Amino acid sequence: MDKTIVKKLGLKGNFKVAGDKSISHRAVMFGSLAKGDTEISGFLTGDDCLSTISCFKKLGINIELDKEKVLVHGKGINGLTKPTSTLDVGNSGTTIRLISGILSAQNFDSKLTGDSSIQKRPMNRVIKPLSEMGANIESTNNGFAPLTIYGRKLNAINYTMPVASAQVKSSILLASLFADGVTTIVEPVASRNHTEIMLNYFGANIENKNGIITSSKVDELYAKDLTVPGDISSAAFFIVAALVCENSHIIIENVGINPTRTGIIDALKAMGGKINILNQRQSGGELVADIEVFSSNLTSTTLEGDIIPRMIDEIPVFAVAALCAKGTTYIKDATELKVKESNRIATIKEEFSKMGVNIIETEDGMIIKGEQKFKGATVYSHLDHRIAMSCAVAGIIADGETTITDADCVAISFPNFYELLNSL
Ligand code: S3P
Repeated sequence: MDKTIVKKLGLKGNFKVAGDKSISHRAVMFGSLAKGDTEISGFLTGDDCLSTISCFKKLGINIELDKEKVLVHGKGINGLTKPTSTLDVGNSGTTIRLISGILSAQNFDSKLTGDSSIQKRPMNRVIKPLSEMGANIESTNNGFAPLTIYGRKLNAINYTMPVASAQVKSSILLASLFADGVTTIVEPVASRNHTEIMLNYFGANIENKNGIITSSKVDELYAKDLTVPGDISSAAFFIVAALVCENSHIIIENVGINPTRTGIIDALKAMGGKINILNQRQSGGELVADIEVFSSNLTSTTLEGDIIPRMIDEIPVFAVAALCAKGTTYIKDATELKVKESNRIATIKEEFSKMGVNIIETEDGMIIKGEQKFKGATVYSHLDHRIAMSCAVAGIIADGETTITDADCVAISFPNFYELLNSL
């Protein structure tokens, strides 16, 4: 499907965005491993999270989905059963990496596959630590999916992660729930901690002392109801849109503002973005708030180090803000962008260049000269949801019409994105 975006004269309104993708995945997975019924409200019915539901159904879990409510009839920590067919994770890196940690410890074997993008996403980053724990994972595709996982008894490890990745950390933490001994993980830079928060909510014993994370085997996890907040990664498209589009004033209600995810807010505020955090509150161990945004005159910044994992998924849309800001913005330490749903440094540069703006690609990020003007053009999503949505945000400030081809991939994380953008 193609989508045409026209210039907007201002964004106004109060609204909610789709549920948090990371939290929705985890709620289904951990609910499946917990004893009893977990009712999830505000669930993201995006394609990635539906892939997680389909995998856990194949592992013998009864899961009912009714709009944004999900009921997971968990069977306890040892309740999964051997699937009768290959588990298909679709486009979801979170599903394949996290489920690998769980499947490694089962008393049955399983096969995992996914779409053509998933078959290019590095899996050695989880195969290596899981193998150290005693897992037996076979790739017939040189370290990429499809994978066969032969269930084994696991043991605890001490692991220093070479890259900051919540998916890798979570995969090891899930395996640690089944492993004898105490597993210790050291991250080079802190990544999102939803796994630690939610597993503890279900009864696990995970601690983080000065960046050293420990976890040990559990006898059982216990079901608890959960409410998923709005996804800050989805809110980011509207935050940037409102900042760069004149005459805008929006309030995005009920957004997760876990500090391991709010790099985008910190970066945009440092650039002079008028953003207010309202009604801050707690839900299921996660911080939630309403985010108010006004159009703003932005100035350039440098992103590097600790902030990068705290806004890794928001960098494509952040590029739109940097292209509008006064001065030159530098993004460093962001090589992880190359192994997302697409190589996001290359794809954002390529598509934005069609819109008449120039980004310089560097070894580990981008250099973005500000005050460039977007022109409407036909751009390609590369089947990457966040590239499609970043192009749409550029489209609302571009002169002329912007057409995004293969635009329906937004259904991965934000099914009603275009309707919402149109409605403002
Ligand atoms: C995610 C972690 C991040 C992020 C992805 C979701 C998660 O990936 O990019 O969209 O839910 O744990 P990495 O762990 O590879 O950085």
